[in-house]
This record gives sequence, C-alpha cells and structure tokens, in this order.
Amino acid sequence: MSSKTNLADTKHRSVNSDLNNPQTAHDDQIIHTRSRKKVAVIGLGAVGLSLASFLGSKNISVTAIDYDEKKIKMIQKGCTPFYEPSLKYYLQKSLKNGLNLETRITENTLSNDFIFITTGTPLNKQNQLNLEYVKAVALSLAEQMSHLKTKPSIVIKSTVLPGTAMQVVKPILEQNSLVESVNFDLLSNPEFLREGSAMQDTVSPHVIVIGGSNSKSIKKLTMFYKMIYPDKMQFIETNNATAEMIKFANNAFLATKISFINSLANICQKVGVNVDDVARVIGMDPRIGNLFLKAGPGYGGACLPKDVEALISFSNEIGYDPILLNAVRDTNIFQLNKIIDIIKQEIHSLEEKNIGILGLAFKEDTDDIRESVSIKLIEYLLDQNCKIIAHDPKAIENTYKVFEDKIMYCKDTNDVFYGTDCVILLTPWKEYTKINEKKILKMRNPLVIDTRRMLKISNKKIRYIGLGIGK
Ligand code: UDX
Repeated sequence: MSSKTNLADTKHRSVNSDLNNPQTAHDDQIIHTRSRKKVAVIGLGAVGLSLASFLGSKNISVTAIDYDEKKIKMIQKGCTPFYEPSLKYYLQKSLKNGLNLETRITENTLSNDFIFITTGTPLNKQNQLNLEYVKAVALSLAEQMSHLKTKPSIVIKSTVLPGTAMQVVKPILEQNSLVESVNFDLLSNPEFLREGSAMQDTVSPHVIVIGGSNSKSIKKLTMFYKMIYPDKMQFIETNNATAEMIKFANNAFLATKISFINSLANICQKVGVNVDDVARVIGMDPRIGNLFLKAGPGYGGACLPKDVEALISFSNEIGYDPILLNAVRDTNIFQLNKIIDIIKQEIHSLEEKNIGILGLAFKEDTDDIRESVSIKLIEYLLDQNCKIIAHDPKAIENTYKVFEDKIMYCKDTNDVFYGTDCVILLTPWKEYTKINEKKILKMRNPLVIDTRRMLKISNKKIRYIGLGIGK
C-alpha cells in the first residue's frame, strides 16, 4: 500500500467555512470550464446526494441518478428527501449550476469521466451484505457499454466487503456488455461521512482512500479530487481490497470504542463513578483519543450495526471466529436491556404507565430512525401496555410510519413531561440541555432516565438516573 501521508498524523476534520456560513460562501475553488469534468452519481442516499450536490456546487457537470422517481422529482424542486444540515443549500446551488437528474442509466451515463456508485448495501436475512443494488447498477452499466468511445472510471463508494470490486463487480461489467472487450477502470473509494454532518464530511473529508489495480487509474481520480479539495488533503492510494477493508475496519473500530465505553459505563454505574469523568481523562492519552467515548444507549443508524454484523458474517464465512466483534455487537444489543432493567427497577408494574421518550432519531441532527434504540424501546414498552408520548425535533414523520397512532407525538418538550410516570432521554439533541427542573416537576411521578447524561438535576423531588453515573 502506498501512502503519501502517515495515517497516525491524521488530524480531526476541520469545519469548512462554506458550512459555517453557507449564505456568504465564496467559490474560490470553482472549476473552470476549460477543465470541466463530467461525473455521474448513481444512488441518491446520504452519500450520493451529498456528493452530487457538493460536486455540482463546484460547477462540475453532474448527472445524479436514482431509480426512485418520486425522490428525483423532489430533488429537482430543490427539496431534500431527508434532513441533513446544509444539504439543501448545496443542492440548490448545484441545481442552479445545471445539476442533471435522471431515473435510468443510459448510454450517456458511460460518457462521464467518473461514474460513482453510491447505492446502499443493507443486510440480507442471513446478516450478510446485500449487494443487490450494486450488482444491478453494474449490470445496467455493462449493458450500455457497447459503443464506448471513452474509458470511464467506475468508482465504488458503496460499502462493500474486501474482494467485491474485483470478484463481483468486475466480472459483471465484463461479462454482460454487448462487445467483446470493454474498456473501463474500476476503483474503490470508500466514504466515511456521518449522518448529521454529511455535508461537512463531504466538503472536508479527513482522508481520501483510492483503491485500484493500476496506478494510472488511481492517479486520474486523485487528480480530479485535487481540483476540488485543498492542497493539504491526505490521499491514500492502495489496491481495491485494502480500500474495501479500510472502510470496515474504520466502522468496526468506532463500534468497538462505543461498546467499550458502554461496558465501562455499566461498571461505573454500579460503583457510583461518572463514566464521563473517566472518558475525559483516558481520552487525553493520544493513543486512545477523545472521540467516540460517549456512553449511551448503544450505537444505531444505517452503518455501524450493519457493518459490524456483515464483518462478523464475512469472518465466519472465511473461517475466522471474530470473538471481539461478536462481543462488540452483543454489548451493543445488551445496552437496551440495561435501560429496560433500570425502568423495571424503578417502576415495578409497567402496565398502563405513561412513558415519555425524548429523541427518536438514532443520533442528533438527523431524521433517520434506522436501528434507533428509541424505536426498539418503544416496541418493548408498547408490548408492556405502556402509553408512549414521544418528542423529536426532526424524526416524528419517520416514526409515524412505524407506529402510526399507537403512540402520541409532541412538538414541544413540555408535553413529554405532563402527567408521565417516567421520561427517558435517548437522543442527544442540543435543545434537551435546556430542559429544566420546573418542566420535570410537571410529571405525575418525576423519574428521568438520562442515557446521555445531558440534564442537570439537583431537586430531591426528582429521581434522576444518568446511565453510567450511578446513584
Ligand atoms: C458512521 C461512521 O461514523 C461514518 O464514518 C460512516 O461513514 C457511517 O457510519 P453515522 O452512523 O452517521 O456514521 O453516525 P456516528 O456519528 O458514527 O454515530 C453512530 C452511532 O453511535 C449513533 O447512534 C451515536 O449516537 C452513537 N455514538 C457515537 C455513541 O453512542 N457514542 C459516541 O461516542 C459516538
């Protein structure tokens, strides 16, 4: 693996000035028409739409493709299909620059310099990565390859296991085109963006990893990114399988850090120590680092649970028993039971109890509820015949699709407290830090379980349990 920089020196991503003040953003890096590249982005989820909007805002000629016509119509109007800070600003800017939206891969798609595949890779019923969408895109591209005048670079940004590019995607591309020999480059370029800061991470990635089988094709993509990103950007050039593995290693390590601190939180709780005091100091050790040491209800979202599970299945398939990864996954699942145990300890019979839920999204600054612990907890509480009243600044619409009228929803955090027997804080939305004791005293039984330790409570009439603090 050739690396231009030492990975250990990687600094935390800096906030780009465009994002701090999008309205006054300057376009000093606009790409001039002379060198204008053409790209296609296929699959408009968080990764694809952020990338297409960012590149489009830089005046690169972008064709964004998604099979979902409803989604495309929405995007065409400048509306984003999900909540993501700053995304709308970049999308509207790229629409002004002529962002082209399509619902199909056509012969024209192949005329782009770079074709980014950004489709989702969810889990199948066997807990393996489902490559259905990536394969379908590869097949459609292959079927359009007959009259190729150029040599496009097909760039896989979707999260795929080591070996996928060369052993799955490449054969599909080669075996399904109408001509005998096809000419394309196949690169693996994993994406590390987080929901809730997807634009910030797209505008200022901490590293760009490019995997390929020949240095010329890798260089071509590196040069493209160099036109867009500042001089200091760190590039890692490697082979496809290593690039694919880096992505899984990244997510598995982040999950490991969270499960580690959650295990520690459960120990701290029993001995009356505050886990945040411990985390703050161990985080000062540069070998450990202070990020991803926030104990909570367990990691959720579309990526960490899925990627740990997929890596476990993959390891088992290739004959390695992933003991540590199993423990990371199990610790995460156990964290919900831990919260349930606390509720049961404090409220002996749950039947007909009114429970308030603060936060439905799997994390703050997103409306995504996939693998959200809040949703799993509500399912359990409904089974126990509890009445639920839930608040979230952004995720109510998505939660309504799951529970419909089985639970109550409120726009004002005050309503979560009126007449409830227990309130559980799960998502660390910033606005929850403003919740004061006066609000909490409106409860029928002032009991608060704070899984993120955000509230400051001193009133003795309130039973406050901070996960990982202890009594
Ligand atoms: C993750 C990876 O961070 C990102 O690099 C990858 O591209 C996609 O998966 P994302 O799922 O958007 O990103 O969110 P992230 O910020 O990683 O949080 C994941 C979960 O871990 C959330 O439920 C969050 O609340 C939880 N978490 C995170 C903690 O409980 N404690 C922490 O210290 C950090």
